[in-house]
Amino acid sequence: MTQTNKRNVLITGSSKGIGKAIASKLSKNNYNVYICARNLENLKKTAREIQAAGYFQIDLTQQDSCKTLYEETISKAGNIDILINNAGEYLYSPVEKVQEPDIQRIIKLNVETPYKLIKYVTENMKKNKWGRIINIGSISGVVGEANASLYSMTKACYIGLTKSLALELAEYGITINTINPGWVETELAQNAVDNSDFSMREELDMIPQKRFIHPDEIASLVEYIVSENAKGMTAQNVSLCAGLSAG
Ligand SMILES: NC(=O)c1ccc[n+]([C@@H]2O[C@H](COP(=O)([O-])OP(=O)(O)OC[C@H]3O[C@@H](n4cnc5c(N)ncnc54)[C@H](OP(=O)(O)O)[C@@H]3O)[C@@H](O)[C@H]2O)c1
Repeated sequence: MTQTNKRNVLITGSSKGIGKAIASKLSKNNYNVYICARNLENLKKTAREIQAAGYFQIDLTQQDSCKTLYEETISKAGNIDILINNAGEYLYSPVEKVQEPDIQRIIKLNVETPYKLIKYVTENMKKNKWGRIINIGSISGVVGEANASLYSMTKACYIGLTKSLALELAEYGITINTINPGWVETELAQNAVDNSDFSMREELDMIPQKRFIHPDEIASLVEYIVSENAKGMTAQNVSLCAGLSAG
């Protein structure tokens, strides 16, 4: 813990949407929250609004961005107790039409970035014998989604990552879990629907609860997983999806 006795949390992609909801919830609950995103204006606005301990403007698809983000956070916070890998990009496209730059960018953001950040933060977590890592996956990585194979592939890999690292890190008091949301009310989801072959009404009809998840529902689950009460919860891939995972 830091001198102020508050846990330090780094959340990727946290100026809006799910990341912002998590940042807001944890900040209100007395965590030191560090946020990051590309758009500086949004970032500053969110940092003020949620009283973040710090913010970093960064594009996590760029080379060395993980190292930079890690070093900048450490220089400001001293230590990272909790890592939330949230930043991610969705692409709706038939497989044969996916472009080479899309493959590189989405694998970099959705796969390489979380892996590298985990690699950086675990050293200190192991020394401190405490840590929490949460990946924001997707229901598309659990049940599959036609015309979203690239996205689905990048999210499905968290399942193996979470189980393997949970085994490796359990003895150090570090837990790792993945939350797989269904459709969530965010800009990403709105853009995904706009770029798909389905209307919002048709998307809603496909969801058992006939509704999108609210970002705060994801944040509430994160709040539990980072708490002391959840110290026994590790290696889990939890779907929070309004019933979509039922098939
Ligand atoms: N919304 C859904 O229905 C849904 C469902 C399942 C899973 N998810 C997953 O949940 C996570 C968050 O999604 P969301 O819906 O909250 O998205 P969102 O509303 O689009 O927010 C994404 C956040 O990430 C930042 N970001 C995006 N690309 C970035 C990059 N290259 N480098 C740094 N920051 C970046 C954005 O800020 P800037 O644009 O300023 O960088 C923003 O703060 C993603 O991993 C997504 O795959 C979402």
